[in-house]
Amino acid sequence: MREPASRILGTGHYLPPIVRTNADLERMVDTSDSWIVERTGIRERRIAPETIATSDMAAAAAKSALEQAEIPASALDLILVATVTPDMPMPATAVFVQQKIGAGNCPAMDLSAACAGFVFGLSIADSFIRSGAMRHVLVVGVELLSRVVDWSDRTTCVLFGDGAGAAVLGPAGGATARGRSRGILSTRMSTDGTLAGSLAIPGGGSARPMSQALLESKQHKIQMKGQDVFKVAVKNLQSSSQAALDDLGMTGADLDWICPHQANIRIIDLAVSKLGVPRDKMLTNIERVGNTSSASIPILLDESVRSGKVHPGDTVLMCALGAGISWGSAVVTI
Ligand code: COA
Repeated sequence: MREPASRILGTGHYLPPIVRTNADLERMVDTSDSWIVERTGIRERRIAPETIATSDMAAAAAKSALEQAEIPASALDLILVATVTPDMPMPATAVFVQQKIGAGNCPAMDLSAACAGFVFGLSIADSFIRSGAMRHVLVVGVELLSRVVDWSDRTTCVLFGDGAGAAVLGPAGGATARGRSRGILSTRMSTDGTLAGSLAIPGGGSARPMSQALLESKQHKIQMKGQDVFKVAVKNLQSSSQAALDDLGMTGADLDWICPHQANIRIIDLAVSKLGVPRDKMLTNIERVGNTSSASIPILLDESVRSGKVHPGDTVLMCALGAGISWGSAVVTI
């Protein structure tokens, strides 16, 4: 096993204040609390008020992660913001995050890998730090999905929520009480572009520019083939997680926690059960937060660290899959 080059120095998250429950959705579309809970595990999700943009949530999460890391924003060498709901097409949302946290003139860019965005961001940040080109990298996963959800489509609107999570990465160092090296031990990233049509916001870009007809046909909103995504999610989350463990010569028994993307409790249960990891090692907050895409893993990780459930020195497997279809995993000793 190679020595880790980078480690997570601090995490943070932000959840907007408006709670939208399944009972609220029952008043909006033909659905029921029991259907949503049984099929997804979600009871409520957070919604950002109109006054909040994606970069506001990202900046709040980033400030909290910097504070925990005890790193000033001016020490950042790179800001990576994983999002599919940017403030605007140009410039990048990361630019506004840089402004709002008071970082210097470090490069700031967005990363579009949907729900896999945070894991992709960790992998990219780790590579930059390993190369010696950078010391401190901020990775944010943030989504304001309520602005791109069709609130009249019951097959998608029950799933998604808003939020942001962040991690500050820096050079690895320091062994844990158990003698493990703290840091990012392995990462995996994959994309199958032939499945691009199974989850998309098809309109509003260069392929189908904004028009009245496009707005009326709601092509600027999320469109999803739910069952297709479900099947590929179970299969690829399991195989990618297994591959990340195999890279290290580890098995599920070596993990303290699994911190999976919170897409659907049934997907998570099926993927994790195939890894042979006991269910009580699985972190989850889907009941309260829903699917926040790229923000999902860093929100869950930060909640788990701050509540004292995940301790420094614990080894955590993160895995995520989403539009692309893109998926990835990371094994990290916190
Ligand atoms: N409330 C009530 N009924 C609903 C419903 C809702 N919110 N959404 C769909 N239904 C209905 C369907 O219309 C269908 O009715 P029919 O049998 O009369 O045609 C029935 O419930 C079953 O639909 P189906 O699509 O087979 O349900 P499912 O068990 O596959 O669950 C998802 C649907 C979307 C929850 C599930 O496919 C899923 O989670 N997919 C992955 C989505 C995902 O995670 N996307 C993001 C990836 S990061």
